[in-house]
Amino acid sequence: MTDLAATLDGNFALDVVKGLGQPIKSIPSRYFYDLRGSELFDEITRLPEYYPTRTELGLLQKHARDLARLSGQRRTVLEFGAGSVTKTPVLLDAVDAQTFVAIDISGEYLAQSTTALGQERPGLRVIAVEGDFTRPLDLPSLPRPLIGFFSGSTIGNFAHHAAVDLLRSFRATLGEGALLIMGIDTRKNPQLLEAAYDDAAGVTAEFNLNLLARINRELEGTMPLDAFEHRAVWHDGYGRIEMHLVASRDMTFRVAGQAFAMRSGETIHTENSYKYTLAEARLMARASGWEPMAYWTDAAEMFGLHVWAAATQEHLP
Ligand code: AVI
Repeated sequence: MTDLAATLDGNFALDVVKGLGQPIKSIPSRYFYDLRGSELFDEITRLPEYYPTRTELGLLQKHARDLARLSGQRRTVLEFGAGSVTKTPVLLDAVDAQTFVAIDISGEYLAQSTTALGQERPGLRVIAVEGDFTRPLDLPSLPRPLIGFFSGSTIGNFAHHAAVDLLRSFRATLGEGALLIMGIDTRKNPQLLEAAYDDAAGVTAEFNLNLLARINRELEGTMPLDAFEHRAVWHDGYGRIEMHLVASRDMTFRVAGQAFAMRSGETIHTENSYKYTLAEARLMARASGWEPMAYWTDAAEMFGLHVWAAATQEHLP
């Protein structure tokens, strides 16, 4: 492991080589989001089959007054993964935010979204923090108490134990008296889920395959893109949609100087998207230092908007 780490350039190479070397091949889904991947994800959010973005936006608009009431005196919003140019302004207006802190791993993307926000709202103090929100962050001193915003059911891309760790670290970052506004996708008819992750226009397939294009470009890869097919499958036992890239023939290829072989039908597992019942979401909140305060969903219960309050010391698990 140390030898490999020493010869490979950065985490991307290391994670990909490690993932492709497992008996069941996998690549972490966070590597989808190079510039092209972020553009494709934006396109996904506008697809007819991909209900989460528009449903969450509708919930934020519908419950703007409730959000204002619950937020009380809090006027500082911290968004973890500040990708959503459409949803964030709705929340900022609802709670009459004075300070907005956008945290994102992609500096390029962050610059685009925060510049526009700052121009549209001259009274709003906008702070961009380029960083990985899954790790402890160095934040400037901010007017407290804070409101955290974690939208789009990004929590669903974390395994349960990692989701709890992440929410605990949000609790530590946001501190006493904080609120956390969370968008969490619900469990539903698997056909709707599979359509949302395998759309008719093929955008999600392109998003999935872009990961291989990125590997070829950045890691001197020779993966044959035309020999992989996108697959999205609901796994009821795990409560998650899985995305895979399936090899359509036997093949060999190289990545970062390492040789790999795949058989026809073998897959690379590229993403999990966990879906939560209300009871499961509340359990996750309580396991990670949050106390559920409010919950709204749409008529078809396609998506959930949760408001959690930082648990006080005696409520902490
Ligand atoms: C970013 N994340 C919440 C998306 C999801 O629904 O799990 C990523 C995605 N993958 C395919 N379509 C969208």
